[in-house]
Amino acid sequence: MTSIAPENDRGLAGQTIFISGAGAGIGRGIAEALGAAGAHLALFDLDAAAIEAVAAPLLGQGLRVSCHAGDVTCADDVHAAIKQAVQHHQRLDGAVNNAGIVGASADVLDYPAEVFSRVMDVNVMGVLHCMQAELGVMKQQGRGAIVNIASAAAIIGWAGQSAYVASKHAVVGLTKTAALEYAAQGIRINAVCPAFIYTDLTAALFQTPGVHDAAVANHPIGRLGQPHEVAEAVMWLLSDRSSFAVGSSLVVDGASTID
Ligand SMILES: NC(=O)c1ccc[n+]([C@@H]2O[C@H](COP(=O)([O-])OP(=O)(O)OC[C@H]3O[C@@H](n4cnc5c(N)ncnc54)[C@H](O)[C@@H]3O)[C@@H](O)[C@H]2O)c1
Repeated sequence: MTSIAPENDRGLAGQTIFISGAGAGIGRGIAEALGAAGAHLALFDLDAAAIEAVAAPLLGQGLRVSCHAGDVTCADDVHAAIKQAVQHHQRLDGAVNNAGIVGASADVLDYPAEVFSRVMDVNVMGVLHCMQAELGVMKQQGRGAIVNIASAAAIIGWAGQSAYVASKHAVVGLTKTAALEYAAQGIRINAVCPAFIYTDLTAALFQTPGVHDAAVANHPIGRLGQPHEVAEAVMWLLSDRSSFAVGSSLVVDGASTID
């Protein structure tokens, strides 16, 4: 049995949560925070070694953790992972559809169409595949909570990032629609919209000189965010403490989208 420190009690102990893109960055931060809150986990990622590394210390804490390597753009991978996860854990209380990519940086006129398609495939079709697999289980259970990781780019524009912005607006649209369709069936579906968070994804962007400082200047709080700060919002939306939050897009952004 794992013991939960009072400050980590989010009402999620003993629940089973699926996380896509759990091998790095925000997904890894969510896995670690949920583990500290006593949740059992089903970790999904392209990178098998990365999720095994996330799982190892959590298994040491007495949690049940299953690892599922796969690609969210492949519906078969996702459905097989959810099926295996339910066989392993006997339940699926919540899911965090987090896997995503940023794509190229180019104005619309020059944006490579194949990259645009790839971004839509991972960020939108990936979330759709995950929700379809999760909803199949949650509908039977008559309960569940899904959190889709969108972005501040779902709220505002971002010059040079048309594919990413379009994909994240689509994630919010999918979230709102599915929320309406399943609210009466005991399944709550919400999104979280983080601004810049320090991860591998942003590290790649910050290799371009000036981008990091410009990003900080766009956040009135005076700094960028950390994965655990996104995890707090996700855990609230997964737990019964957010029981009346349905179809919302919770902004976690250091005030960067206000003006
Ligand atoms: N970092 C930010 O500033 C930021 C801000 C807002 C939203 N987001 C969103 O948060 C999510 C996570 O971003 P991050 O910064 O942690 O990224 P990251 O690149 O650090 O980690 C992403 C993880 O997802 C996995 N992944 C990528 N494509 C996959 C696929 N097709 N199938 C399965 N797994 C896949 C990667 O292997 C990696 O482990 C993304 O949806 C991203 O758009 C990030």
